[in-house]
Amino acid sequence: MIELSEVSKTSILTLICRAVGAEKKGYSFNDQKTLEIYDLLCASSTKPERHWIGSIKKKFKGLSRKSVKIICNRVETFDKITNDFIERNPSGTIINLGCGFDTRFWRIRSEKYRYIELDLPEVMSLKAGLLGEQINYECLGISVLDTSWIDEVTKKGNEDFLILAEGLFMYLQKEEVVKLIQVIADRFSNTELVFDSVHEKYTQGVWKWFTNWNWRMVFDMDFNYTYGVKNPLEIEGYAKGIKVTSSNKYHGHLISLGINNNLRQPQ
Ligand SMILES: C[S@@+](CC[C@H](N)C(=O)[O-])C[C@H]1O[C@@H](n2cnc3c(N)ncnc32)[C@H](O)[C@@H]1O
Repeated sequence: MIELSEVSKTSILTLICRAVGAEKKGYSFNDQKTLEIYDLLCASSTKPERHWIGSIKKKFKGLSRKSVKIICNRVETFDKITNDFIERNPSGTIINLGCGFDTRFWRIRSEKYRYIELDLPEVMSLKAGLLGEQINYECLGISVLDTSWIDEVTKKGNEDFLILAEGLFMYLQKEEVVKLIQVIADRFSNTELVFDSVHEKYTQGVWKWFTNWNWRMVFDMDFNYTYGVKNPLEIEGYAKGIKVTSSNKYHGHLISLGINNNLRQPQ
């Protein structure tokens, strides 16, 4: 039985995309753990839920197959960023905000790494219920907006973190994203925050209407994107100590921020 809010159900959409990508012959995306979670999720679902999951999968294999490519490319890009970070920071920490049913832990070189996942309590308990003891890293079932998660993760220090937010910020309000980035800038140093965002136009006017229509028609979900970015450099104005270190056009933007990266004293 899947008891998730609408926003949390989006994590099932990205899970299905990865499953379709992983099943595709000749596709570079290899993610066996996703296929395992997909099967476990189907096995624990009610008949109507299985029907919904099956109908979405069919769409991702057919008319919406472009979404599979976009999501799998995003996954591979975030994996690469994570592996590069591990190479540069052998004793750093990775936090995956709004992780959903992501399986990055099993795809990256993570054996000795501190790896933390965070999502809403309903998602984390469903994931724990499906995977049980296979999850041997830290998990936080808490809203990212309740910044007490920062107290928890910085108990042993606040440097050398890679904070990932993949497919998360577009579901938050702009004030919430600004506040969150401000708190992160205030509490972390020598840290990287990497997130993707939709273009701002999808949060307004006719594009907002069209996006909502698309969500309802394709996924039977009533959604609006509430945060988007027009020019990534505008984010530097959110708080002191942040610098846009890279931004790529990715169906919107993929943005890396350096957080207080000039504060460390030379050794
Ligand atoms: C589109 S899914 C992306 C999941 C995962 N990152 C991936 O790419 O497969 C969005 C995720 O953000 C989570 N989310 C939304 N609002 C949140 C909040 N306030 N705090 C923590 N997680 C949140 C949802 O529960 C969901 O798992």
